[in-house]
Amino acid sequence: MIGVSDGSVSRPKCAEISISMAQRAFQASVSRAAGAAEGSGQALPVVSVGRAMVVWYGQCFRGGSLRKRRLDTRRCLMKAIVVTDQAAGTAGMALAECPEPTAAINDVIVEVHASGWVSTELEWPSTWIDRAGRGRAPSILGHELAGVVSALGYGTAGLSVGQRVFGLADWHRNGSLAEYVAIEARNVAPLPGDLDFTVGASLPISGLTAWQGLFQHGRLQAGQSVLAHGAAGAVGTMVTQLAREAGAYVIGTGRAADREKALDFGAHEFVDLATDALDDVGTVDLVFDVIGGDIQKRSAAMIKAGGSLVTIVGSVEARPADGLAVDFVVEADRAQLGEIARRMQEGRLRTNIGSTTTLDDAVAAFNTSERAKGKTVIRVKP
Ligand SMILES: NC(=O)c1ccc[n+]([C@@H]2O[C@H](COP(=O)([O-])OP(=O)(O)OC[C@H]3O[C@@H](n4cnc5c(N)ncnc54)[C@H](OP(=O)(O)O)[C@@H]3O)[C@@H](O)[C@H]2O)c1
Repeated sequence: MIGVSDGSVSRPKCAEISISMAQRAFQASVSRAAGAAEGSGQALPVVSVGRAMVVWYGQCFRGGSLRKRRLDTRRCLMKAIVVTDQAAGTAGMALAECPEPTAAINDVIVEVHASGWVSTELEWPSTWIDRAGRGRAPSILGHELAGVVSALGYGTAGLSVGQRVFGLADWHRNGSLAEYVAIEARNVAPLPGDLDFTVGASLPISGLTAWQGLFQHGRLQAGQSVLAHGAAGAVGTMVTQLAREAGAYVIGTGRAADREKALDFGAHEFVDLATDALDDVGTVDLVFDVIGGDIQKRSAAMIKAGGSLVTIVGSVEARPADGLAVDFVVEADRAQLGEIARRMQEGRLRTNIGSTTTLDDAVAAFNTSERAKGKTVIRVKP
C-alpha cells in the first residue's frame, strides 16, 4: 500500500500578489541575499516574518524561465486566481502566488494555456469544501482547461509529457485558473494540433454537458423534437448544434436579442420567452433546461409521453406527467471529449466564445456588471 497524504496536515497557502511597496522591498532584499548566499556557498538566509518562518531556497527552472521556490515546501510558486471568502462573491477573488500543484497517483500536471469560466462557480459547494466535507479555501478557481502535459503522477499511463490536452478538472480540487493544474489523466483528452488552446478550453463544460444531457440522460433519437432553453448561451449553442446534427427538430429559446444567434447555431425556430407564448410550441420529446423555475415548470407540461426533462440548474422542480426527469452534473469523459474535438475539426460543431481575457486581467473581467454572451476564456499563457 502506498501512503497518500490526505492534505489535511499542512495545506500550502497562497499569497496575494498585490503586496505593499514595503513588502516588495523586503522580498527583493531577501531574494538578493538568497542569490548571493547560493553563489558564495554560504548558509541560506532565514527570515522571520511575524510567526511565519520563510527560508528562501533559490529558484526553479521550468518551461524556459526561472521561478521562485521556497525551502519550506520545495515547490515553485505560480500565479492563480483564488477565493477565500464565500460571502465576498466575485469581489473576493484575487490574483495570488500559490505553490505549484504536485501530481497524485494517475494524475498529470498540465501547464495551462487557457481556461474556461462558468460564472456560477462561486455558488457551487465544491468550490468551498473537499470530498470529505472539509473547508478547502483558499480555492483556485476554474475547471475547464487546455494546455500541455508537464509531468506525470505515479502510475499514469496513456499520456506523455509535452502532449497537448484539454479536459474537465475535479470540482473539489484546485482548478485551472492557474499556470499549472493537477488533474486525473482520465479527465483529459488529446487536443488535436489544429484546435488552438482557447478553443480547447471553451469546450469541456458546455460540450460535455450538452452531449450527456442529450444522448445519455435524454436518450435523444433522430426525428425527435428538442426544446433548447437558453439556446444562445454556452451550453445552449452546443445543445442546439448536437441535437440538430443528430436529426432532431430544435426549438431554441431565450431573450429577443438572442434570436439571430440561436438560429445561426442551428435552431429551426426561436421562442422569445418574454413575449412569445411558450405553449404555442406544442409538445416536444425532450426539454433541455438551463434556466429552471417557472420556465422549467411550464416546459415539463409540454413533454410527450415517454419524453424527458433534463435540467442542469439544480434539482428537478416539475416532472412530466408521463416521462423522465433528470438533473445532473457534467462529468469528464475522454471518449466524449474526443468526439467533440473531432466534430470541431470537421467543421460540424462551432464553439461560442463570448470574451477572452488574460490571467492578470481576469479578476477585473469577472467583476464587470456586463452579462457574458457565450463562453468566457482566460488565456493563462498568452
Ligand atoms: N449541471 C451542470 O453540469 C452544468 C454544466 C454547465 C452549466 N451549468 C449551469 O447551466 C446554466 C447555463 O450555463 P451556460 O454556461 O450555458 O450559461 P450562459 O452562457 O449564460 O447561457 C444561459 C442562456 O440562457 C439565457 N437565459 C437565462 N435566463 C433566462 C430567462 N429567464 N429568459 C430568457 N433567457 C434566459 C441567458 O441569457 P442572458 O445572459 O441574457 O440572461 C443565456 O443566453 C448556468 O446556471 C450554469 O451554472 C450546469
